[in-house]
Amino acid sequence: MREREEVSVLEIRDLHVTVGEGDDTKEILRGVDLTVRSGETHAIMGPNGSGKSTLAYSIAGHPKYTVTGGTVTLDGEDVLAMTVDERARAGLFLAMQYPVEVPGVSVSNFLRTAATAIKGEAPKLRTWVKDVKSEMDLLEMDPAFAERNVNEGFSGGEKKRHEILQMRLLKPAIAILDETDSGLDVDALRIVSEGVNRTREEGEIGVLLITHYTRILRYIKPDFVHVFVAGKVVEEGGAELADKLENEGYAAYVKDSNEAAAAEVARA
Ligand SMILES: Nc1ncnc2c1ncn2[C@@H]1O[C@H](COP(=O)(O)OP(=O)(O)OP(=O)(O)O)[C@@H](O)[C@H]1O
Ligand SMILES: [Mg+2]
Repeated sequence: MREREEVSVLEIRDLHVTVGEGDDTKEILRGVDLTVRSGETHAIMGPNGSGKSTLAYSIAGHPKYTVTGGTVTLDGEDVLAMTVDERARAGLFLAMQYPVEVPGVSVSNFLRTAATAIKGEAPKLRTWVKDVKSEMDLLEMDPAFAERNVNEGFSGGEKKRHEILQMRLLKPAIAILDETDSGLDVDALRIVSEGVNRTREEGEIGVLLITHYTRILRYIKPDFVHVFVAGKVVEEGGAELADKLENEGYAAYVKDSNEAAAAEVARA
């Protein structure tokens, strides 16, 4: 594994992504521009179906999504040319909105295998067991959880804690968290947020937080907020933009975006 840069930069330039095949092909991302540096926290907010999860999956290399234009680089290296495993080794981490079950694989084995794949060598068993235990304590997770199969029958809150546990142990350069706050009760929201904040305080992690609610942004203060509508970033601002969105919704942005699309069609 190459040495990780002290400061990592994830750069997304004019990213276009489609889903489906043949006549069913649909362009979801329509020119996304976004830069996330380590040490920064970015929130992406936008209406349902605007393509936020598509952006996360495309960066992670999900095979359902076809990149038709633009670039994604991490420290100048072409992320789109990397396999999914290479992306993880390069320091990218994705916590999905709907994580998959991994039957027959315990949380503890899953985490150790992932850490081994990312670091290029197996973590020392004694320190590893201690690390897992202390991280689970901090996330207020029952130790028995380590022996459960990954995501099998996990409650919504357990899935999200498990994601943060992964992030804590795998120590990525850039973490993309897709609706980590959905389905969390107030205590779990605080615990999960504290997990993210611990990581921010300890090291130079860059966080891309996709969310619908400003609630989580009270705990995890974003440096930048991006409004995402119809497959691209349409406005950027600081933390105060999230409050504006909460009060006013996305209607004005959606209207502008529809008008721009209509004008484009008229021109064509
Ligand atoms: N595999 C797929 N096949 C067909 N359409 C898809 C596929 N994946 C995504 N889409 C469509 O792309 C659009 C964007 O979906 P996406 O999940 O990225 O939105 P989102 O912004 O994350 O929404 P939400 O806020 O509801 O999570 C939606 O219209 C969705 O139906
Ligand atoms: Mg989504």
